Amino acid sequence: MAVPQHAQNQPAIEVADLVKTYPAARKKSPVRALDGLTFAVPEGVVLGLLGPNGAGKSTAVKILTTLSRADSGTARVAGLDVVKQQREVRLAIGYVPQESSSDPMATGTENLVLSGRIYGLSKQESVRRAAELLERFDLKQAADRQVRTYSGGMQRKLDVALGLVHRPSVLFLDEPTTGLDPEARADLWTEVERLSATEGLTVLLTTHYLEEADRLAGQLAIVDHGNVVAEGSPEALKAELRGDSVQVELADPATSGRVRSLISRLPGVGEIVVEGNTLRARVDRGATAVPAVLGVLEEQAIAVAAVTVARPTLDDVYLRYTGRTFRAAEQASDEERAA
Ligand SMILES: Nc1ncnc2c1ncn2[C@@H]1O[C@H](COP(=O)(O)OP(=O)(O)O)[C@@H](O)[C@H]1O
Ligand SMILES: [Mg+2]
Repeated sequence: MAVPQHAQNQPAIEVADLVKTYPAARKKSPVRALDGLTFAVPEGVVLGLLGPNGAGKSTAVKILTTLSRADSGTARVAGLDVVKQQREVRLAIGYVPQESSSDPMATGTENLVLSGRIYGLSKQESVRRAAELLERFDLKQAADRQVRTYSGGMQRKLDVALGLVHRPSVLFLDEPTTGLDPEARADLWTEVERLSATEGLTVLLTTHYLEEADRLAGQLAIVDHGNVVAEGSPEALKAELRGDSVQVELADPATSGRVRSLISRLPGVGEIVVEGNTLRARVDRGATAVPAVLGVLEEQAIAVAAVTVARPTLDDVYLRYTGRTFRAAEQASDEERAA
């Protein structure tokens, strides 16, 4: 069997045992932002680094883009060591930070041309590349407008274009769609998919949106407390959980105890959780479990308001590997920050 070209090459990003501790500040204890972070990204893949706020995603990206340094561990990007070959790494990568890096008082073209000049392109080349990118990201109409007049979605697209001026082979996008409305978010998703599909770019994006990770990432690394707790394609991670989740809404919550015991006796049913008048159970196969559940409840004349069956989501995956729901993790992180 022929081996795909990229499989013969080294990974585009290779991270091993990164540790980073921020010193104590304002009477707080030191923060171990990265605690042995390890993962690899094959060439041409979109890797999603998924984790709640505070998981260490931005810290990892800053180290990989040479803007910060790990206490220990190693990282290579495009085959280059991020500490020993900083200059080369910077030329090989594009970096779109969490906060926009464009000049709001300059036009789209001016921002792109300046960026081209910084990367050593000639004036003429910079102008040509700027026009190409504005066209590519559907910003041509706004090329000569100050960036402060752009919508959030347009600004974000310009940010991505700025990261591509020097034709890097690896692109880092830190929380690319935070703060965008759903339409602008979907638009940017399409752009990122296109970059990877048509230009073979390797993309590392960080996100705390489960939906974004599911949609965009060919490969996922789920990060929790500075560590990768699970890795794989979203489909594979969900498939590992096997089975479906069946949800029964009871007309009368008082029946939930009886329903629990009836359902637990059905074959292929496990992990039953009752919350109010809702009962959730993991089943081997939703398609066969639903009629069985309805049958036994009907037999006992127990009224049901609704029954739904769903495939496991990334939220279920996160719960499985971290022991808490994604939402709970985000809340805990927000509370920690407010403290
Ligand atoms: N410059 C810094 N100084 C001190 N602590 C920091 C600094 N940057 C990040 N942290 C802390 O390190 C942890 C990881 O942060 P970060 O990498 O920004 O996570 P994420 O991008 O996943 O939200 C958090 O607890 C955060 O408060
Ligand atoms: Mg971040």
